[in-house]
Amino acid sequence: MMRFSCAPMEGLTARVFRKAFVQHFPNDLRFYSPFISPTSSSDLSSTEMKDVQLADNQGIDLVPQILSNHAHEFLFTVEKLQQLGYTEVNLNLGCPSGTVTARGRGSGFLKRKEELKVFLDEIYAGSPLPISIKTRVGFDAEEEFADILELYNRYPVHELIVHPRVRQDFYKGKVRMDAFALAMQRSRAPVCYNGDIFCVEDLRAVTELFPTLDHVMVGRGLVANPALVRELSGGAKLTKEELMAYHETLLTGFRDLGWNDRPIISHMKEFWHYMSCLFPDHAKYRKRIGKSQDLTGYRMAVESLFREQELLEHPAYRP
Ligand SMILES: Cc1cc2nc3c(=O)[nH]c(=O)nc-3n(C[C@H](O)[C@H](O)[C@H](O)COP(=O)(O)O)c2cc1C
Repeated sequence: MMRFSCAPMEGLTARVFRKAFVQHFPNDLRFYSPFISPTSSSDLSSTEMKDVQLADNQGIDLVPQILSNHAHEFLFTVEKLQQLGYTEVNLNLGCPSGTVTARGRGSGFLKRKEELKVFLDEIYAGSPLPISIKTRVGFDAEEEFADILELYNRYPVHELIVHPRVRQDFYKGKVRMDAFALAMQRSRAPVCYNGDIFCVEDLRAVTELFPTLDHVMVGRGLVANPALVRELSGGAKLTKEELMAYHETLLTGFRDLGWNDRPIISHMKEFWHYMSCLFPDHAKYRKRIGKSQDLTGYRMAVESLFREQELLEHPAYRP
C-alpha cells in the first residue's frame, strides 16, 4: 500500500497548516517540518523550535528536519528533539536557495563530498535517533548521483527521500526519472519519491515506472489542493465548501498565534500562490488578494473569489 507524506515547505507546511489540515482532511499522512537550522550550539531559533513543540502538534505524525553542515550543531539539535519526544529526524540535502548553498548546506553540501563524508560519519556515529535524508540528485548534473548514492549507502540511512532534480533546476523543468531509477536500483535505504505529483495521473505515471515504490511525498500539489492525498488514495475530489472551511481554519490559526494583520496576510498570500490554481479565472483574484493590506480587504478579495468562481473540474496545482 502506498504511504504519503507532506513535504517540508518553509513558510507553508508549519504548525498552523498541519493543524488545519488534519482537522479538515484527516489522512494517514506523515509531515516533515520545514527545516530547523541551528546556527550555534547553545541555542535554537525560537520560531523554529516553536514549530515542533508537542503542544501544537498533538495527533500529528511529524518528523523534524534539520539543515546543517556542522555535526556538533546537528547532534545538539537531535538531542533537543529527542527530549521533546521525537523518534526520527531528517537531514536536508536538497535546499537550492543561494544563501544556503553558498554556505555549503542543503544541496550545496552535495558539492563538497569530502566534508559531507566527514559530517555523515559523525552524525551517524553520534545520533541517538534514526536519520532519514531528503536529497536532490546532484548540484550541477545528475551524473553526480551515482557517487552520492554510493556515499549514502555507507550509512544506516533510515529512508532516502529523493527529489530528482539537481540544484540548478531549482523547482523547474522535468523531473529526472533516470536518476530516480538509480536510487530505486542501488539505494540500500528504503526510497521515497518526491516531485511534481499534482494529480492522480501524475502518481499513476510514477507507479507505472516503479511498481515497488511504496512512499510518496507531496508538496506544492498538497498546499494547492488539500484533498490531494485523499484523491490519490482513491477518495473524493475537493469541494469548494471544504476549501472554504479549511481556509477559515488556517486564517483563525494564524490569528490564534496573536499575529498582526500584516504577517497573517503575507502568509495567506503564500498559500494563495498555490491554491488559486484550483480556480479557472484565478489571475484577477490572485491580484486582488495580493493587493490587500488589511484583514478586511483580504477577506473581501477571498470572498469574491469563492462567490464568483467554481473549482476547476480537476482542481490541481499548475506550476
Ligand atoms: C516554498 C518552498 C519551501 C520549501 N521548503 C523546504 C524545506 O524547508 N525543506 C525541504 O527539504 N524542502 C523544502 N522545499 C522543497 C519541497 O519539500 C519539495 O521537495 C519540492 O517542493 C518538490 O516537491 P513537489 O513537487 O511535490 O512540490 C520547499 C519548496 C518550496 C516551493
